[in-house]
Amino acid sequence: MKTQLFIGGEWRDGADGGVIEVADPATGEHFEEIAAGTPADARAACDAAHDAQLAWANVAPRARSEILRRCWEVLMGHQTELAHLIVREHGKPLADANGEIAYAAEFFRWNAEEAVRIRGTLAHAPSGANRIVVHHPPVGVVVMITPWNFPAAMITRKLAPALAAGNGVVIKPPKETPLTALRIADLVTEAGVPGGLVNVVPTQDSASWFDAAVDHPHVRMVSFTGSTEVGRVLLRRCADRVLKTVMELGGNAPFIVFDDADLDAAVEGAMVAKMRHSAETCTAANRFLVQAGVADEFAQRLAAAMRDVKVGNGFDEGVTCGPLINPGAVDDVDGLVQGAVEAGASVELGGRRIDGPGNFYEPTVLAGVGADSPIAHAEIFGPVAPIITFDDVDRMVEIANDTEMGLTGYVYTGDLAKGLAVSERIQAGMIGLNRGAVSDPAAPFGGMKQSGLGREGSTEGIYEFCETQYIATAW
Ligand code: SIN
Repeated sequence: MKTQLFIGGEWRDGADGGVIEVADPATGEHFEEIAAGTPADARAACDAAHDAQLAWANVAPRARSEILRRCWEVLMGHQTELAHLIVREHGKPLADANGEIAYAAEFFRWNAEEAVRIRGTLAHAPSGANRIVVHHPPVGVVVMITPWNFPAAMITRKLAPALAAGNGVVIKPPKETPLTALRIADLVTEAGVPGGLVNVVPTQDSASWFDAAVDHPHVRMVSFTGSTEVGRVLLRRCADRVLKTVMELGGNAPFIVFDDADLDAAVEGAMVAKMRHSAETCTAANRFLVQAGVADEFAQRLAAAMRDVKVGNGFDEGVTCGPLINPGAVDDVDGLVQGAVEAGASVELGGRRIDGPGNFYEPTVLAGVGADSPIAHAEIFGPVAPIITFDDVDRMVEIANDTEMGLTGYVYTGDLAKGLAVSERIQAGMIGLNRGAVSDPAAPFGGMKQSGLGREGSTEGIYEFCETQYIATAW
């Protein structure tokens, strides 16, 4: 496997020869070493992306589309290999990793179809004096900062529409999971993406790397997925050059269960919303708001389902929850659980870290959690389900919206009209109504409030990587 920097279509050592050691979160073992890039490498990558983008913007949409479709085929042709890489560096169970590759590849297929449908408009000026021609050229060079929780899909959700729209790209993958990013760069090149268009430069020093990229005169946009805390810092920095941004930030999803819900379906959905990809997703159900009439029964059934979760190495047969990404993540989750217990929550299941090696935490269900408990206001990013009981619907909506985050929400009820009405009151960009998963390449992924700016996926996603130009025309 290639472990150098990928710049200008070539594999190169970093400018100062630094390395990043990649650890297996299931064992703590450092199993691979890759080149670490410097600010000079980031600048070189932006130069390369710019040079390649000038030609790519003039490639016919149909030709771009066919290359993207080939990327989908090539990634799916390497699904097993890529999934194994993800399990090794991220730790998620192999079935989830396979699912992630299918999800990641689908962004190429979807955007292959969108590449030929970037629409403009033509209108008469109301005065009748001229026509208003609107079209959507590419932004230019886009910097992408991607997270470790989906080592493949969070790259392709940005990369595929960016390429479809005619942009050049510089990717800074996370130092926890850079191998998948490097392999994807290799595979999309094999699929026909011209050299220089996609550059991958991992680094140990994210702040200096980002400064160099933001100050590069040809960079016009930053697309980031990660925490709200880091997003705010990047947004401030992007303001210096008035860069376009798309920000996919943190979540604090309420999972609402009404007493008329089908409880089997609600528990099944809860397990998906909470536990998919080892409970390390920003869409994860973070607070379970359960109507008093079914609160005890839901807690018992959820605890039973969580008890069946097999925690372990993602490669092992039957494992459905892998390790957390690093020891610090285990400390954070444990701190939130202990804080909730001190604040009066009862532990229905779990509640403790699992002895190493590896970064494991017990699947945990907490009942009787107070709406003001610290755990209800933090993004847990671990296998912990806090249950808050409600009686009054207006108060429940108030609690659900009592957060600066607004990425996802879930509503379970047997009454579809009530479900839609409550969904509309939840301040979140995505709602799962009687569904525990919202992610779909054909749907607009993104948040309200401090969960982000802009949307990824769907038809909207491609326009984020476009400018809007209007030409006042007389003929
Ligand atoms: C995320 O957690 O950032 C993405 C989740 C998803 O796409 O399903």
